[in-house]
Amino acid sequence: MKQSKITLSKDYRIAKIDDRIFGSFIEHLGRAVYGGIYEPGHPAADENGFRRDVIDLIKQIDVPIVRYPGGNFVSGYRWEDGVGPVEQRPRRLELAWSTTEPNTFGTNEFMRWCKEVHTKPMMAVNLGTRGADDARNLVEYCNHPGGTYYSDLRRSHGAAQPHDIKLWCLGNEMDGEWQMGHKTAAEYGRAATEAAKLMKWVDPSIELVLCGSSNSHMRTFGEWEATTLDLCYDKIDYVSLHQYYDCHDGDIANFLAKSCDLDQYIKTVVCVCDYIKGKKHAKKQINLSFDEWNVWYHSHGADFEKWSEAPHILEDVYNFADALVVGLMLIALLKNSDRVKVACLAQLVNVIAPIMTENGGKAWAQTIFYPYLHASRYGRGYALTTLLETTKHDTKDFSDVPDVDAISVWNDEKEELTVFAVNRDFEEDNLLKINLKDFAGYTPVEQIELAGFDLMAVNTAKSQPVQPTKKALSGVYDAMPEIALRPLSWNVIRFGKQ
Ligand code: AHR
Repeated sequence: MKQSKITLSKDYRIAKIDDRIFGSFIEHLGRAVYGGIYEPGHPAADENGFRRDVIDLIKQIDVPIVRYPGGNFVSGYRWEDGVGPVEQRPRRLELAWSTTEPNTFGTNEFMRWCKEVHTKPMMAVNLGTRGADDARNLVEYCNHPGGTYYSDLRRSHGAAQPHDIKLWCLGNEMDGEWQMGHKTAAEYGRAATEAAKLMKWVDPSIELVLCGSSNSHMRTFGEWEATTLDLCYDKIDYVSLHQYYDCHDGDIANFLAKSCDLDQYIKTVVCVCDYIKGKKHAKKQINLSFDEWNVWYHSHGADFEKWSEAPHILEDVYNFADALVVGLMLIALLKNSDRVKVACLAQLVNVIAPIMTENGGKAWAQTIFYPYLHASRYGRGYALTTLLETTKHDTKDFSDVPDVDAISVWNDEKEELTVFAVNRDFEEDNLLKINLKDFAGYTPVEQIELAGFDLMAVNTAKSQPVQPTKKALSGVYDAMPEIALRPLSWNVIRFGKQ
């Protein structure tokens, strides 16, 4: 059997993990909103039309923040269409996804839904077809208490108290030619600076996310971040990253190694942020908002009727291999939690999502639901530098890929320690030795495993075979416990203080 070892110390802390790293995303796209979180008339819908079965699944994960309303959608969105009396709201052609947007769900519905879900909003403004003026009006509508045109408009729409939205995205993927209102880095840098300035004048307490590159393979990646940050540095707080991985070539070993690319991508963006910091002799540090990340390749979205309402698009059915990659991506995010302060699994319901629904029918958890749930539930606290000794292998695109990848999180308030680990090996168990010397009295509680499935196994409305199993571990302190990680497995090893 192969062996690995990790050494854990309270002194080697990467950072206190920002809870918002476990965020997600709801876009007006396909059935994310309509038929996903919102379906008046569904047997499980409440008086607001919110599906309680979906809310229950989201609450299990404990999602701290949800980005809204896009995505590509936001770059053509008129937020005014989605507020006020529902019967007066316009139906619009939605150009990002070639659908019809009914606007029966908008800002105030979303804010009400956030309260029901116990989550916080991360609101995006349209810097594609619109600009600073509409952005500052939306901040006034949402955050100003009253006595002005837009704040009183909100009050007249039934929201007496300000929504007090703290985190805002300055557009979406503005470097992408597919984006409505696509801009060069210089054009976007200026547009974002002016929008940021006005938005913060309306409410200085807000934090702003600048659009970074749409992914690390964009031709302008690096230069885009440098140029836009140079223009905006003083006005913004975070720069965004987006990344989706696929397995079109069927090479699963290579697919499992793609989290190494994620790690490299994050480190490169950190370098650019710090280069501009140095260049400006700035004290302020820009952190990262990884506000779209996931596996995405099973669906493409082309085969639906153009201009239809809430079509079945981007409804990836995730398999067990995808769940392992999502687990590995979470490990990479947590390892970089000194700089990644916000991250959003894209998306939350139906559209490349951990939760699926049938219109009028069931809601269920996809395979990727589980690593996300586990990380969010047990990954709060301090990320610890995981000194990892493990064997390595090469794949088509990556060399020296660790056979076992892991991160540990110490929750000092609850006196809990959790090791998240993936064994990438296809055949062999890996015996993980955990050097716990600095955690005297921490005894093993349980090992949660997602393992033993066919790599192509999926959960559907009919059956959900891909489920984690829990194994109670003996509660005796041992300075070097040894835990067997099964081949191709996601593991959550939990310790508690006795
Ligand atoms: O999440 C789906 C889409 O992917 C988003 O709308 C866009 O921002 C990204 O390209």
